[in-house]
Amino acid sequence: MTAATLARPAELRQRLTGAADSAHLAACSIAPRTLDVDQAMTRMLDDLSRPGFWQECEQQLTRARHLFARLIGADVDQIAVLPNASIAAHQAAAGRRWRRRREILTTRDEFPGIAHVWLAQPGARVRWCTTQPGAPGTGSYLAQITPRAALVSVPAVTYRDSTRLDVRHIADAAHDAGAAVFVDAYQAAGVMPLGVDALGCDYLVTGTGKYLLGLPGLAFLYVRHPGGPPPTLTGWLGRTDPHRFLTPVLDSPPHARRYETGTPAAAAVYAAVAGLSLIGDLDLRQVRHHTQRLIAATAKRLTAQGEFVRLAADAETQGAHLALVEPHAEAMAAWLGHRGVIAAPRSGVLRLAMHAYTTNEDIDAACESVAAYRCRSRTRPGAAR
Ligand SMILES: Cc1ncc(COP(=O)(O)O)c(C=O)c1O
Repeated sequence: MTAATLARPAELRQRLTGAADSAHLAACSIAPRTLDVDQAMTRMLDDLSRPGFWQECEQQLTRARHLFARLIGADVDQIAVLPNASIAAHQAAAGRRWRRRREILTTRDEFPGIAHVWLAQPGARVRWCTTQPGAPGTGSYLAQITPRAALVSVPAVTYRDSTRLDVRHIADAAHDAGAAVFVDAYQAAGVMPLGVDALGCDYLVTGTGKYLLGLPGLAFLYVRHPGGPPPTLTGWLGRTDPHRFLTPVLDSPPHARRYETGTPAAAAVYAAVAGLSLIGDLDLRQVRHHTQRLIAATAKRLTAQGEFVRLAADAETQGAHLALVEPHAEAMAAWLGHRGVIAAPRSGVLRLAMHAYTTNEDIDAACESVAAYRCRSRTRPGAAR
């Protein structure tokens, strides 16, 4: 399959299996099921009943690492594979002493799991920037970066309101102040171009279960300069040669696999290869353009219906989902789900996530279902309460 074919939403749309008749607008939470992941699962089960399952699984792991490295313009030796983004963040902080420079600068719009890892660092002090809904928090970061900062943690796109931050700008300021830069790209990877050199970050994490079209259970950590003190959270895959199984020897390779731990979730590994292969066939600039157009159209329509949406000040600072304000977003999502519109509720908003496969018909279905929900439930749009 070529970029030209998969870049057309209809081509990728045909590969969705679970949600073939639904509008799947929830990739900010969970990827839709695809033919490719279905086939990968069948392959994994077939491999399970043959000798050499672990060798095959390790090959898949290596393939996933390469595909991800290519996606973000990194070297494969800068990538570690871990079970989730929280552990990846923990590994990024591994070996930091938090003594003279003790500050971790982050935002209240950071995904909780990442912020909790920062809060749990012994000796570190977390400082919070604010990201106004609909206005990027870039300025707030720039105003608060000082030489006390050891680590500046930036979500590429915020998980709730879908605000895209100017990571490059923040990274340049952080580096000028002598701080390292960590990026949580879970809400960006797979749905917009993402290059670590363009971002200028020292660490980047993301997982495979959302826009990367795989399954939950696998995350990647990019480390610009792997090395330094070895992590204390480790396992047999973190060794220089894991296959020597030398129980008393705790060595660490110079590359990012030093941050890896134990046996990964095999299903997530196979699915990661399937999802990353699909993403690798996309022209992510076109995908970004497509999702921005759909978000603008959806926002306009929902606003005309009397709904309140949190939209960024300009298309550049909007992520790939639209946040509709609704205090009872879970109830609304359940109602919509029964009508074939799969959305992602979170903390007072209903998130409608766009991807390459999203069509105008999906948007029609979502807007019509929201209108029908208002009639049936006799509720008023969120911010009006
Ligand atoms: C921005 C962001 N980071 C991280 C996560 C998940 O972190 P973890 O893999 O540790 O559960 C999510 C969603 O689940 C997210 O939206």
